Amino acid sequence: FSTISQISSQQSKPPSFGIAFDIDGVVLRGTTTIGGAARALRRLYDGSGILKVPFVFLTNGGGVRESKRAAELSELLGVKISPSQVLQGHSPFKQLVNRFENELVVAVGKGEPAVVMTEYGFKNVVSIDEYALCFDDIDPLAPHKKWGTMEVAVNRTRKCSINSERVQAAFVVSDSVDWSRDIQVLCDILRTGGLPASEEGPQPPLYFAHDDLKFQGAFPSERFGMGAFRIALESVFNSIHTEALKYTYFGKPNPVAFKNAEVVLTQLASSLYRDLNVTDHVNSGSHDFQTLYMIGDNPVVDVKGARQAGNPWFSILTRTGVFKGNHDSNHPEFPANLVVDTVEDAVDFIMRNEH
Ligand code: G3P
Ligand code: MG
Repeated sequence: FSTISQISSQQSKPPSFGIAFDIDGVVLRGTTTIGGAARALRRLYDGSGILKVPFVFLTNGGGVRESKRAAELSELLGVKISPSQVLQGHSPFKQLVNRFENELVVAVGKGEPAVVMTEYGFKNVVSIDEYALCFDDIDPLAPHKKWGTMEVAVNRTRKCSINSERVQAAFVVSDSVDWSRDIQVLCDILRTGGLPASEEGPQPPLYFAHDDLKFQGAFPSERFGMGAFRIALESVFNSIHTEALKYTYFGKPNPVAFKNAEVVLTQLASSLYRDLNVTDHVNSGSHDFQTLYMIGDNPVVDVKGARQAGNPWFSILTRTGVFKGNHDSNHPEFPANLVVDTVEDAVDFIMRNEH
């Protein structure tokens, strides 16, 4: 289904605002909805379930295709979410397809990292699970790991010609499930120019979906995120190698993530009004939102990013996630424009402010 194709075109003027929702710690904790999220989102649709306010999810999380995430969110929240409304930490990796389209690249992380990359257009991508299985004894702790079921799932004879092919880049798509193996195998790849067990060589590019040190999951206190894994990998790599680890990340607070959200929200706004004669105006890129609201729970990621992105972003910090300040308090270093208890309070503020 496509929400965009069903967007209401009943309103007479272009929307002056849009909303970007963070997911973990704002809309969900683990797989449980929080903060009146379902009720809050329903307010962005008309009585027939047709979208009336342009919004996206701007999350650093991921590991699954945007289409699958959209279906999961639709189910959990009871509204129709389109894949184009789901912007994950790894979504900008698709901008690198031209550079690595046919090159061997390794995809790391929980979920289906290689499937995600294949959907973006990478043609020669292998998950680190499959890659590691192509090298006997690369992980000396493997025999002690009780959870290994991958061996069954992987067709070794088909894939394992890759162990003589140089890896041209590594992409950390989502949180590493097995830090000890992934740090070992990534160091093997990165210090040898992409060919484990060979001589040292130039470091292939390394891309992270994001750099969150911590995030709010189902557990009461925050959990380590991809940034913690990056620190561990970097620390080990820099201890065994003379040149420091080079890497790039794309998710929030990187301005690229906010620019991309703005582009997608503009396209949504364009769809909202496509039956009116304002579409040329919107498609020309001259569409101006007066306000884009970022609703997040993590000051150093969501609020910092919105502040850096500048006009027209307006940051709203909830107390349902990483930020646990008392009533009336704000983050000292990256204060939000507004602090509220829940995502429902945030949407309530927006709707009152805009109408
Ligand atoms: O692993 C996901 C986490 O680091 C952040 O997700 O939705 O809060 O951006 P989110
Ligand atoms: Mg969050």
